[in-house]
Amino acid sequence: MTVLEILRSTTAYFQKHNIENSRLNAEYLLANVLGRKRIDLYLQFEHELNEAELTPLRELVRRRSAGEPLQHLLGTVEFFGHSFRCDKRALVPRPETEQLVELLISRCKSEIEYARIVDVGTGSGVIALSLAAEFVNAEIIGVDISGDALMLARENAERLGLSDRVRFLKSNLLENVEGTVDLIVANLPYISTEDRQKLSREVLHDPEVALFAGARGDELVRALIAQAPSSLRPGGVLAMEIGLGQRETLVVALAEKNYRDIWSEKDYSGVTRFLFARYG
Ligand SMILES: C[S@@+](CC[C@H](N)C(=O)[O-])C[C@H]1O[C@@H](n2cnc3c(N)ncnc32)[C@H](O)[C@@H]1O
Repeated sequence: MTVLEILRSTTAYFQKHNIENSRLNAEYLLANVLGRKRIDLYLQFEHELNEAELTPLRELVRRRSAGEPLQHLLGTVEFFGHSFRCDKRALVPRPETEQLVELLISRCKSEIEYARIVDVGTGSGVIALSLAAEFVNAEIIGVDISGDALMLARENAERLGLSDRVRFLKSNLLENVEGTVDLIVANLPYISTEDRQKLSREVLHDPEVALFAGARGDELVRALIAQAPSSLRPGGVLAMEIGLGQRETLVVALAEKNYRDIWSEKDYSGVTRFLFARYG
């Protein structure tokens, strides 16, 4: 079979199995097996695949159809222009979170250029490492409660040549972070345990500890709001990704703890997804 025939049949197969963006998934998996860039497939539509190429492809197609995330099958994910290793040890980084990094850079660039920053719930390290690549003078710490996630984050730091710039630390929220910081950024779990059945097969491949915060969903974000003032320097910023419909009550929680300059931002799909505030 040729590249074009494989792409057509795999796309149709994925559609039958309710895989979103079927053609794109087919292209990524085929490019991965052939060791090429996805875009190069377009120059090779007539290339005939041999059995040594078809066998691993069939296995990847089977696993993808069964709901394994594309990023796990590829082993990498693009985030903020960098390629990160991605596997079941941590959450698959989401495009919304790239927007959190973008917002920090556009809104707080001058004050975080030389800042001490902590990324709480760092997972694969995407936020901490993207900020480290952007702000060469910043001191950055990534913390997580999961040893597996921290291992992956350290591998990613190595992969990007940033191991000496970012320190990864095991910590329950800010418990083990010493001294004060200028910015706390966090994409903590914010899904309620009740919403488990609404999640897609793909999302259920993420670690539980990366998804669920408790019966309400905002428990960890609230705990961070309560804890952050003792780690933030006066005027320091708390920046968080939050869940659908959580804005109102979290704004109240911030106001009650005497944060100021509270503002929120929507993600590209129009959902209020990010919350920012200063303390002191
Ligand atoms: C939604 S994931 C985000 C991962 C990464 N920051 C990203 O944006 O892709 C949340 C992360 O918070 C971590 N986490 C959960 N509870 C925590 C806690 N109490 N203290 C620190 N990290 C926690 C999880 O292990 C997970 O890596």
